[in-house]
Order: sequence, then structure tokens, then C-alpha cells
Amino acid sequence: MWSENRRYIRWLVQLLAAAATYHLQTCVRGEPQVPCFFIFGDSLSDNGNNNLLPTAIKVNYFPYGIDFPGGATGRFSNNLTVPDYITKFVGINPLIPPFANTSGSDILKGVNYASGAAGILPETGTQYGVDISLESQITNHRVTVARITGRLGSIEAAQQYLHSCLYYVNIGGNDYLNNYFKPQYYPSSHILNLTTFTDVLITIYSRQLRNLYELGARKVTVVGVGQIGCLPSQISQNGSCAQEENKAASLFDSKLRSLVSQFNSQFSGDTASFIFVNATAITTLNPHFLGLKFQRVPCCRKLVSFIGLCVKNDKPCEDREEYVFMDGFHNTDAANRITALSAYNASNPSFTYPMDINHLLSSSP
Ligand SMILES: *[C@@H]1O[C@H](CO)[C@@H](O)[C@H](O)[C@H]1NC(C)=O
Ligand SMILES: *[C@@H]1O[C@H](CO)[C@@H](O)[C@H](O)[C@H]1NC(C)=O
Ligand SMILES: *[C@@H]1O[C@H](CO)[C@@H](O)[C@H](O)[C@H]1NC(C)=O
Ligand SMILES: *[C@@H]1O[C@H](CO)[C@@H](O)[C@H](O)[C@H]1NC(C)=O
Ligand SMILES: *[C@@H]1O[C@H](CO)[C@@H](O)[C@H](O)[C@H]1NC(C)=O
Ligand SMILES: *[C@@H]1O[C@H](CO)[C@@H](O)[C@H](O)[C@H]1NC(C)=O
Repeated sequence: MWSENRRYIRWLVQLLAAAATYHLQTCVRGEPQVPCFFIFGDSLSDNGNNNLLPTAIKVNYFPYGIDFPGGATGRFSNNLTVPDYITKFVGINPLIPPFANTSGSDILKGVNYASGAAGILPETGTQYGVDISLESQITNHRVTVARITGRLGSIEAAQQYLHSCLYYVNIGGNDYLNNYFKPQYYPSSHILNLTTFTDVLITIYSRQLRNLYELGARKVTVVGVGQIGCLPSQISQNGSCAQEENKAASLFDSKLRSLVSQFNSQFSGDTASFIFVNATAITTLNPHFLGLKFQRVPCCRKLVSFIGLCVKNDKPCEDREEYVFMDGFHNTDAANRITALSAYNASNPSFTYPMDINHLLSSSP
């Protein structure tokens, strides 16, 4: 009787200790909302993939990364990018590594394939050198999927795992800025009007997103291109926002939003969900974004002509928390934080469609 009781008590004590340890661990570490995050896109998301490529579009030098603990990494920001903030919000630690250098990193937590100057079309941005187009980024993801399949032992286990990940794609701006609106380098605007060109982009993008789905993506965030005509680089060329470029962007964005809607009805019953992030709504309606003091002057005083990047080693602005733009094209850490939070926890229904990232991750199994 006594020994029975003692055994029971010992068992109870062990159970409570285990529960307390578990509770402590989850409180201290915080379980991430998803185990993995895969990132595709252009310079807005690049975190070092362009560093070793022969291209003018890379920023592994000061003052980029001035506020980042390790200094310049290839991120087009003074500190973090939008996907970096999303990584933090979902609770993944450390930040997602670039595909170009996953050594010493756990690819099961995700990989970042984004490349500065890249577009939906393979030729986009190539007037500056080599970039990794969305098509090639998805080819690189195939490599990761194969490696994960090897690690988990079977296609079924790997697919089940990949279904649980978050995917983020932000691309398209360069297909206008560094293709269609650069008629001296690219024939696209000589051959196609804006509507037809945009239709072609969306058709190709649609095929690429479908490929991503076939590789296991089930929770996908796509980001619209926003008002590219109002980037400091475009304003400095024209004195005010380039209307034709903004028109192109809103055409692209509305077709992308329709694509998201189409995917959600097509893949329903399969628990796939796509969401669209309206960058224009965030930059024009979020009071925190509008509250930043310097809306259109870049933090870097001197920019490299034509490419609009900060001049190497030039001293940037001091009050970086008050600037929207780091250089002629890219946002500061402060603006990226606001954008990421608007996409993750949308305080205004126009920021995301049909739901924000937090709901995307908690609504599907
Ligand atoms: C930059 O981001 C890191 C997170 O990686 C953070 O710890 C640090 O405080 C940020 N620096 C500034 C100056 O905001
Ligand atoms: C997002 O909103 C949820 C629910 O209101 C909250 O618990 C969470 O802390 C918010 N996340 C961030 C990053 O602010
Ligand atoms: C690759 O990543 C490792 C570990 O994060 C880092 O120590 C190394 O400097 C990186 N190499 C390059 C070429 O970026
Ligand atoms: C664009 O080109 C397409 C195909 O040639 C044509 O059907 C359409 O009317 C044109 N749209 C505009 C606005 O010119
Ligand atoms: C340049 O700015 C003017 C207004 O100042 C605007 O009407 C025009 O559309 C802009 N140019 C382009 C290419 O958008
Ligand atoms: C994005 O938001 C802006 C501002 O609310 C709106 O005018 C535009 O129609 C939205 N675009 C899409 C594709 O939802």
C-alpha cells in the first residue's frame, strides 16, 4: 500500500516537473507560429544573395546595415527588411539565411532566395549584371525541397512538413522599373501596351506560384508592387510622382489580387490559402507610416547616379527612425517595421486581402 502510494507520488512529481519544464521552455523560447519560412523576391527582400554575383545591385557595404548587429550583410536597409520583421513576428529564430550561404544554418527553418534587380521575367534587371529571377529562385527552392526530403526520409513526410511553412513572395516592381520603363534596354514597351504587358506578367507569375504550390506551399503571402512612381529615384527624375508607373502598379496589383482570389477558390478543400498585401494602402493609410517625418528624401545624402543606391562609406542621416527611405528605392528599418506589422496584424482591412498573415497562419491547420 505504502509503496504503491510512494510510486504514485513519485510519478506525479515527475509529471509536474516535466510539465513545469515544458511550460518554462515554451515561455522562454516561445514556440514559433510556424516552423519554417521561405522568402522569394527582389532587393526589398534580398539578404545577401547578390553579394557574390557580378552585378551593380548589391549593398554589402557601409552605410547599409549601420544599425544591424553584424554590420552590412547585403540587406538593402539600415537594419531589417520586411521579411526579417515577419520572421520575428512569427517567432522564428535566428533570421532566415540567404540561399547563397546556408552553411551553418538549419534549412528546415527556411531559406531566403530573393535577389536585387530580379523580376518575374528572366531578362528583367540584367542591364546591371546577373540576378536570380523568380524562375531561378523556384529552381533553387527545388534544391532545398530535395535536401529536406533527404533529411526527413520520405516525400510524404517532407510534403507534410512543407505544407506547414509560411511562404512570402514580393516581386514585380523591377519588371516595370528595370524592364518596361527602360525602353533603351528592353523591347517590351515597343511590342506590348501596358495592359497586355501586365497580363503577360500575371500569367507567368501565376504559373510560378502554381509551381510553388506543387512544391508544397500552402500558406502564401504575395505583396503588391505599390506606388513605384513615387520612389525618390522616380520623383527626382520627374519632379513629382511618375503617373504612368503608378498606373502600371495599380493595374498589376489589382490583377494580382484577383489571382489570389482565384487561387483561393481553386485550391479550396486543399487548405491552401493565399493572401495579398496592399503596399499602397499601407503607405498611404497607415498613420504610423504617414507619421514618419521625412517621406520622400532618402536618408543617404549621396546616391550613385542611375542606380540610386547609397554611395559607399558616405555618412547617412542620423535620425533614421524618422525616414521612410534609406536610398532612392529602398525603405528604412523604421518603414519596414511598420509595413511588416501592417501585413501581420492589419489594423485596417485594406492592408491585406482576404486576411492578414496572423490569421492566415492561425486559420488553416
Ligand atoms: C536592429 O535589429 C536588431 C535585430 O536583429 C535589433 O536587435 C537592434 O536593436 C536593431 N538596431 C536598431 C538601432 O534599431
Ligand atoms: C498581433 O496581434 C495579436 C492579437 O491581438 C497579438 O497577440 C500579437 O502580439 C500581435 N503581434 C505583434 C507582432 O504585434
Ligand atoms: C556564411 O554564413 C556563415 C554563418 O552564418 C558566416 O560565418 C559566413 O561569414 C558567411 N559567409 C559568407 C560568404 O557570407
Ligand atoms: C492593348 O493591346 C491589346 C492587344 O494588342 C489590344 O487589344 C488593346 O485594345 C490595347 N489596349 C489599349 C489600352 O490600347
Ligand atoms: C511627370 O510629372 C508630371 C507632373 O509634374 C506628370 O504629369 C507626368 O505624368 C510625370 N511623368 C511621368 C513619366 O509620369
Ligand atoms: C490598394 O489600396 C488602395 C488604397 O486603399 C486602393 O485604392 C486600391 O484599390 C487597393 N488595391 C487593390 C488591388 O486592392
